[in-house]
This record gives sequence, C-alpha cells and structure tokens, in this order.
Amino acid sequence: MYQEILKISKRRGLMYPSFEIYGGLSGFYDYGPVGSRIKQNIENLIREYYVLDEEFMEVECPILSPQDVWVASGHLDNFTDKLTECVKCGEPYRADHLVEDKLGVGCDHMSVTQLNDNIIKYKISCPKCGGRLDKVYDYNLMFKTYVGPGKYKVCSYLRPETAQSTYLSFKRYWEVGRKKLPFGVLQIGRSFRNEISPRKGMVRLREFNQAEIQVFVDPEAKNAPRFDELSSMEVDVLDGEDKEHQTTLSGAMDGGLIDNQLIAYFLGKSVKLFKEMGINPDALRLRQHKDDERAFYSSDTWDIEYLSPSLGRIELVGVSDRTDYDLTQHSKLSGANMQVSLDGRKFTPHVIEIAYGIDRPFYCVIESAFHQDDKRTYFSFPPKTAPYTAAVYPLVRKDNIPEKAREVYDNLREKGVMALYDRTGSIGKRYARADEIGVPYCITVDYDSLKDDTVTIRFRDSMQQERVKIKEIPSKF
Ligand code: GLY
Repeated sequence: MYQEILKISKRRGLMYPSFEIYGGLSGFYDYGPVGSRIKQNIENLIREYYVLDEEFMEVECPILSPQDVWVASGHLDNFTDKLTECVKCGEPYRADHLVEDKLGVGCDHMSVTQLNDNIIKYKISCPKCGGRLDKVYDYNLMFKTYVGPGKYKVCSYLRPETAQSTYLSFKRYWEVGRKKLPFGVLQIGRSFRNEISPRKGMVRLREFNQAEIQVFVDPEAKNAPRFDELSSMEVDVLDGEDKEHQTTLSGAMDGGLIDNQLIAYFLGKSVKLFKEMGINPDALRLRQHKDDERAFYSSDTWDIEYLSPSLGRIELVGVSDRTDYDLTQHSKLSGANMQVSLDGRKFTPHVIEIAYGIDRPFYCVIESAFHQDDKRTYFSFPPKTAPYTAAVYPLVRKDNIPEKAREVYDNLREKGVMALYDRTGSIGKRYARADEIGVPYCITVDYDSLKDDTVTIRFRDSMQQERVKIKEIPSKF
C-alpha cells in the first residue's frame, strides 16, 4: 500500500523525496503542487480549531536561535539519541533500536552503559556487514551553525521544536492578551532534527513541519471550561503501564487515567480534528508516555497514535503538561521575569502543550483516503482537505464549449472555490486524474450547457452524476 501511495504521490504531485535529481538526501521530502494544497488545508483546519474556535493567538518566530536558548531549555544537554557506528563500514545506528531488535522489548530508556553492556552481552554486530559496533555515545540531534562572520559569529542551532521560540516572548502575549489566563499561542512552522537514520518516508524527517500550541495556565486552575462538549467522546486508551481501556474522556478522567482536564480536553479536540481532516478515527488511540519515556521537560504526556496498515503506529500529536519548566529555565538564564501577578498572587504560569506534526497527519490523511479496486484508484478526501473542490471540463474543444466551461471555472474561482480546469483526454481519463488527487466534484460542460445553462456534476465517491443549473453548482458542494 505504501509503495502504491508513493507512486501515485510522485506522479500526481502530492509528495516525493527531495533532491531526487542529485540522488536524494534521507529525511527530506517535497510537497508537490497538489500536496502543498492539502498541507495548507490541514494547517488551516488547525487554525480553525484553535485561533477561531479557542480564540488563541498565532505567532511566527525564527527557525534559528542562539545557543543560550538551547542551554536554558535543556536541549543542548538532553536532546540526544544513543548512537553507535560500525567500525568496519561506518554505518550509524540508534543503539536502543539494535538492542530492542535483539531483546524484543523497548529500550529507549536505557543508559549508554546499559546499551554498551547489552551489545557486548548479546554479541550484537552491524546488521549490514557484521562488523564490530563502536562504543555508544550521546548524539545531539540539533543542527549547529554560526550566525555572522569571523570573531562576531554567534553559535546557533536550528530549532528542534517551535515551542521554545514561542516561550521567549511570553511577556508580550501576556500584555497583548490584556493580562489574563489562560491563553494559547499557536505557531506553525519548520523544525529540524538530525535523525540518525530517518525511516518510513514522511514519518521521520530531518526537516519537518509542526503546529505547536502553548496554553499558558494558572497552575491552580488546570480545568477545561468546555470539557462537557467532549466528555462523552469514546476513546481507546493505552495507559502508562501498558493497560488498554475502552472508555470515554470523562471515564478516563474519573478513573484517574488522565488526571488533568486540560490534557483530556485537548486530546478529545485533537481526535475530532483528525477525524475532520479525514483520518480514520477507528485507527486512533490515546497513549500515555511511561515514566522513563517522557521528555525531560514534561510531568505528563499523552500521544494520539494512528495505526497505519503499512507503517505501524504513527504518533500524530503529543499533549504534555510542561509545568513551569520552560518559562523558569528561560527566566534563570536570561534574567527576564516570567512571573505574572494575578488575583493577588505572583507565579510562573504552567504550560499545556499540544504539539501536532503536520507531515504525519498529512500522510495519514492520504492513507485513510486511499482506495483502490479493479476499476479505479481514488482518494476520498473530505472537501475541507481536498486539494481542489471541483474540476471543470469542456466536453470538446470546439463550438464555444471551452468558452462556456472557462466561464463556469472563472465564476467558481471568483467565488473563492478552488477549482481546476482540465481540457485534455477523454472525460473518463479526466475523471481518473481527478480521482487520483481526490477532487470531490467534477463538472462537465457540454452542448446542452449552451442551450439551458446546465452542467453535469459527477460525485467522486459514489460516481453518481446529476444535471444541475450552473448557478446552483456551489450549493452542491
Ligand atoms: N514540542 C514537542 C515536540 O516537539 O515534540
């Protein structure tokens, strides 16, 4: 399935590995002309859920930050993977993955010493050439660079998450937001991690897209005022002790599985969002991070995972209680005051983070929408994520039909409908092309259109056709 999706994605301009003509570079993907539209739709849906519906702010910050930011955040010391390399062929490996393959249990909590011991004990060698593996060491995943020339150059890093750049201006949001809590700040943008061995296409990239929301809250008020809207949502849960539960969000709260209403609320909101994007909701589950797995900055973290038929479990969003860790750290190193005064109390706000990847949901939207049978291949994207809402076809290229079709097409674009115009090949071939990029509605202009101002609309999923008046077209979408 994955290979088939990749083949169509390349052919139809959804996504494909970058730098192909130079032999490629692992961990980088292009969004093509069609994929860029889907990606923007996904990002806009996130804006709809948070900026419009929750009245959160949106910011954009640089992707490069000076070293101090990463000293304060802890990334310089802690944002590492355990690396080993083959002394014979030089192939690099994540040591925990090699030990995990041998023992059949997760090993990402193991220390350098434990991993070294296991490699020796179980005689683990290079999977590629059988060579001896070198000593395991902590490998920092950030890309390092310098800003400016010569002795004025400043050591800097490409951000491995958008979150830190959002935190730095906390006091500005506090002022802009008229000194109230809680409030949320969304940032959509690129982040970078120099992964040891990126795998699974878009699932693990070295340059990737995130939509991260930082919700600044009073530590004594971690309740969600709108929890009732989502409390009866049914969810599959895997708790931090690997126990499975089928429950509702309020059941998960009452049973003590999720102890913070804000985390439960944003998990529910994310499930709703993924469903609206077009991701198969039956493939989603909530998974709590184990104590030894949680990121160094977090007191409680939950992921929503999607079970992909081709790539296994894929983490789509992480919802974390980051406490006052980040603001306090930046306050300590920079000297900036990150405290607020509210209701006679002075405190550093806590942060609940909702960290979406964009590339992974993008892939899961595509995979969930992928259909292939004897007759055709199509993507059943919901209109909100589809790259185009409609395709307009002149039946023939003569007798004023193209002019009429162009009129219909221009009219839709003027109304803000993202339409495409396709005049080549048989109508059957044009339907097939539209199906392969998931266009929900195809409109054919023919000889009758000239007489009575009607067109044929063909509906992608049912393949049913309907004759409608041109002016009624938008009401069919
Ligand atoms: N900010 C959380 C993450 O990048 O995973």
